[in-house]
This record gives sequence, structure tokens and C-alpha cells, in this order.
Amino acid sequence: MSRELTFHVFRYDPNVTEIEPRMQEYRLREVDGLSLFIALNLIREEQDPTLKFDFVCRAAICGSCGMLINGRPGLACKTLTSTLPSSITLHPLPVFRMIGDLAVDTGSWFRRVAEQTGSWIHTDKPFNPHDPEERMDNSTALEIHELERCIECGCCIAGCGTANIREDFVGAAALLRISRFMIDPRDDRGVERFFEVVGTDEGIFGCMGLMACEDLCPKEIPLQRQLAYVRRKLAMAALGRKI
Ligand code: FES
Repeated sequence: MSRELTFHVFRYDPNVTEIEPRMQEYRLREVDGLSLFIALNLIREEQDPTLKFDFVCRAAICGSCGMLINGRPGLACKTLTSTLPSSITLHPLPVFRMIGDLAVDTGSWFRRVAEQTGSWIHTDKPFNPHDPEERMDNSTALEIHELERCIECGCCIAGCGTANIREDFVGAAALLRISRFMIDPRDDRGVERFFEVVGTDEGIFGCMGLMACEDLCPKEIPLQRQLAYVRRKLAMAALGRKI
């Protein structure tokens, strides 16, 4: 006999402020291989067409379906109900602007932080589309590839102690990007320029080292190793400057 699942889902529409935030209950019979993503779609199709949540790829690639699952940030499409108790509580990710119910606006947050940290290759070299590709050694290319796997789902930000108490903190995903450009030989920024961008309490020195970002990353990216790399490089730059 399969389990009956009870979903306690946060409901709120910031455009209809006269209706207070509330929890709504839905029940669903569990089937084999049921993911939260499919469960939410079944609830929306069969019980409540007004329920808001985001998804695009259903394959842990687009990063749209992040939410708090029994209090823990995670991806709805990657979470099987069989890994959860029969009572499942869902809230939207904190830190990000709420769109409604379980949907939040991670896009604007990531765009703002990308612009703030200059999240692209900085070089004075003139671009010539006819030039051959720039070469780099295999191990550097593989390392960059590993760090490019971030899907910007926001789980690391939502689970971060610092990001939850100060809204100007750039967060692990942005610091990961910085570490990716630090090792990229095509980026002309030296450590001094990186220091100007994230050598602050809004940047790397705001990280309390609680490790939640790495514990919660659905792509298992070694965030703490990369944050330690940035911190070490910038601390050495600070000592060199006798700050
Ligand atoms: S739907 Fe794309 S990551 Fe979950």
C-alpha cells in the first residue's frame, strides 16, 4: 500500500497584500519514482491551478525549481518523495524577491551580483573573430569546466548564514565565479583588482565558513575549497599591501 503524502505549502501573493501569508494543505497518493516536481504539477493540474512554482528543465540543469523542502534548500525536480517523510513542508527560498507562493526571482539577484563583481573575462586584448582559439593547458581547462557547473539555483545563497542577515553579501555562487576567473589565464585582472571587487565584508571576508553552501549545492561543487582559495589569495594581497 503506497503512502498518502500531505503537503503543507506556503501561499502568498505579494500583489494581493490583503490576503495574509498562510499554509495550505494538499494530499496525494505516492507512486514509484515520484519527484516533488511531478507532485507539484499533479497538485496544480488536479487540485489547485492557482499554485505558483517555477520549473523549466526538470533535470537539475536550469536551476529554476529551488525551494525550502522541510526547511532545507533543494531542487524540487531532483528530490524524490521517497527520500522524505510523508508530511512535506514547502516554502520559497529566502533572500530572493518573492514572486508568489514557491516562486522567487533568482534571476535579478544573480544579474545584479554578476554586474557588481564583473563576472566576465576582463582583457585589453582586441577581439578578432578570425584568431584561432586561445590555448590553455588541459588541467586548467578541466578545473574551469568543473567550476562552470553552477546552475544559479540559489540554494547556496538561501542556506547561507551571512546572506540571510546582510543583503549586500555577494554569496558563494558569485565568489565561485571570481575563483573561476582568478585561475583563467585569459583574464588580465591581477589579485589587486580582484581585491577591490571582493576583498570586503560584502565579499569573501563576510563568509563565516559555516559550510552550508557546499552541503546544500545540488551539483556538489566544492564551494568551500574555492572560497578558501579566494580568501587565501586576497589575504596574501592584503598582507603585501600591509592593510
Ligand atoms: S526544473 Fe530545472 S533545475 Fe529543476
